[in-house]
Amino acid sequence: MTQTLTLRRPDDWHLHLRDGAVLRAVLPETARDFGRAIIMPNLVPPVVTAAAAAAYRDRILAALPEGADFAPLMTLYLTEQTDAADIVAAHAAGLVTAVKLYPAGATTNSASGVRDMDKVQGVFEAMAEAGVPLCVHGEVTDPDIDIFDREAVFIDRVLDPIRRRTPGLRVIMEHITTADACGYVRAGGPDLGATITTHHLMINRNHILVGGIKPHFYCLPVAKRESHRAALVEIATSGFERVFLGTDSAPHTRATKESACGCAGVFSAPVTMACLAQVFEDAGALDRLEGFASLNGPAFYRLPPNEATITLTKGAPVAFPAEIESADGPIVVFDPGTPVLWRIERV
Ligand code: NCD
Ligand code: ZN
Repeated sequence: MTQTLTLRRPDDWHLHLRDGAVLRAVLPETARDFGRAIIMPNLVPPVVTAAAAAAYRDRILAALPEGADFAPLMTLYLTEQTDAADIVAAHAAGLVTAVKLYPAGATTNSASGVRDMDKVQGVFEAMAEAGVPLCVHGEVTDPDIDIFDREAVFIDRVLDPIRRRTPGLRVIMEHITTADACGYVRAGGPDLGATITTHHLMINRNHILVGGIKPHFYCLPVAKRESHRAALVEIATSGFERVFLGTDSAPHTRATKESACGCAGVFSAPVTMACLAQVFEDAGALDRLEGFASLNGPAFYRLPPNEATITLTKGAPVAFPAEIESADGPIVVFDPGTPVLWRIERV
């Protein structure tokens, strides 16, 4: 008997769409399965003003396939020069859903991010007052902190102090990768949420490094040891309502990944929902996939869930495309390396 699973149409609460040729290539892959996505602002140059966010949103809408049922939710890239009034006005106007904090140098295109958190304390206070959510890339950048410890150290040294001195600030810990982050979000109140990517539920650091280096599993924050992956699966599948899907699908061309200094980012948009169904089934929690992918995110962002549904079907192992084409070159699709028996029924 075929097993099927129908869910409300999911949303992606952390997505990189890029611009130009790559935007045109990757956008249909998300718009097919997801109703909305939080669009990351780390373009070159970054999206730092409301005017730039409006122009980027228009380029995304123009690149959507005919008849697509998809809404981009825009973010602003926080810099030490950001004008709090610009953020608050853009949020009140419905143009911007959230603000993104990149510690300077933490990841791809983060050079214009924040070096000194004291310089943006006034912006955090204005955001808390106006109820503008802050999406946080939670890694310290100090060269003396081991890359596998950067998330846990960020929580203690940066995130917790910001939250203590800014009551009411709504924070999303993005793409969490550690048991430490799982514990911190659980202990937080209603103003603290977290996203988890598909790939961090499926791979640990051995997948990147054992048997030859696998650049297509390299992203930031880097995947940690197996006990951390297990903690992520536990919280994602537990029914805990303040964690939700943010794929961090981050396309880079094959040539820039397969390089002596390869880019960080995993392109998972085309296969995410099928992979997640497998993860949740393996955890005996298929009935909780809808909460993680379709309900918890809108609840945190104070938006209604999508009305439409998607249906997944279980059958023989699915052969996903290895890559998609773009005018800038092929982009390799996330392959967890283990069988995925679920596929989305496409109408
Ligand atoms: C992202 C990218 O490529 O823009 N890369 C990644 O490894 N996740 C940036 C980010 O979200 O850290
Ligand atoms: Zn990202």
